[in-house]
Amino acid sequence: MTETAAKKNTDASVQIGHLALKGRVIAAPMAGVSDQPYRTLARHFGAALAVSEMVSASPELRESRKSRQRTNHDGEAGPVSVQLLGADPEQMADAARFNIAKGADIIDINLGCPTKKVCKRLVGSALMRDEPLVRRILEAVVSASTVPVTLKMRTGWDRQSKNAPAIAKMAEEAGIQALSVHGRSRECRYHGPIDYETIAKVKSSVSIPVIANGDIDSPDTALQVLRTTGADAVMVGRAAQGQPWLLGRIANSLDRRRDPGDPVLADKCRTVLDHLEALYGFYGEGQGVRIARKHVQWYAEKLNAKHLLDRRCSETIDPVAQISWVEDFFERVAAQEPSHA
Ligand SMILES: Cc1cc2nc3c(=O)[nH]c(=O)nc-3n(C[C@H](O)[C@H](O)[C@H](O)COP(=O)(O)O)c2cc1C
Repeated sequence: MTETAAKKNTDASVQIGHLALKGRVIAAPMAGVSDQPYRTLARHFGAALAVSEMVSASPELRESRKSRQRTNHDGEAGPVSVQLLGADPEQMADAARFNIAKGADIIDINLGCPTKKVCKRLVGSALMRDEPLVRRILEAVVSASTVPVTLKMRTGWDRQSKNAPAIAKMAEEAGIQALSVHGRSRECRYHGPIDYETIAKVKSSVSIPVIANGDIDSPDTALQVLRTTGADAVMVGRAAQGQPWLLGRIANSLDRRRDPGDPVLADKCRTVLDHLEALYGFYGEGQGVRIARKHVQWYAEKLNAKHLLDRRCSETIDPVAQISWVEDFFERVAAQEPSHA
């Protein structure tokens, strides 16, 4: 890519159908992580969009507690992007209509999920093997939707069949408005280096926005990925677990403003406590405390201070105790590393 193209690509904003995103950092869909409290935090720190956890298109699962929680967008700042998982074109179309009625501003189709349970049912990345079926799904969802439809995929099924560029073209023809590409095949799961070349091929195959995803963990990596692939935006998943402020650091850097760096320890503590309160509020205290445990672990990990977290914090079922273990944890971190404070 030429320097001019790289510059244009770092200056542009992302247009998804009629929606102009304010920024070029997108928080990745992560089942069990990117729930409403997490998405709210991600948006607060500067993600232009935060995609929901995948929601099954299956009508019989629609009223399950999990689906109801995943499709609850009460009070969520738009644009709300809801990701659908399924393989039946009619069910996917129906699920799109249902989720639009519940507040989705964007419908995202999952062609990226590699887990066994999902792939046995030929959904997620397994679908990339069946291009005619992918076409039928895309066409059915686009024609059922009054909002932009996006697609998230991997580079292909395995290293030999990297058909993401072909699917990208098909998607554009079907009316898909943006694509995100995790630069690994389904076979690679989460291992091995990111295949920037295939993401670049996807970008040059279509004129809709392309969002690059995979192992982006700093403002520098994000810039590098945009330059290497020509992509329009980046999507960040695991690196933001336990440090959602990273999304804002990357967003700031891509917009050619300065990298604000990490918040001070007291602000991190405030964020964690607010996150826990939001989880208790959203899920109710019992479920909220259990869901909060993994987030607390990630916050401690990202501070390189897991050893300072009392194990009772991950065992308690009492929100007051959990909050107090977290406060205690931050006091210990501050005491160990006064420079953090
Ligand atoms: C816990 C977890 C859950 C995920 N759930 C989804 C999902 O629901 N839908 C999806 O398209 N991708 C899902 N992914 C994949 C991520 O969106 C992303 O593509 C992948 O983690 C690579 O990006 P990263 O290196 O920035 O984490 C999940 C990943 C993780 C780690």
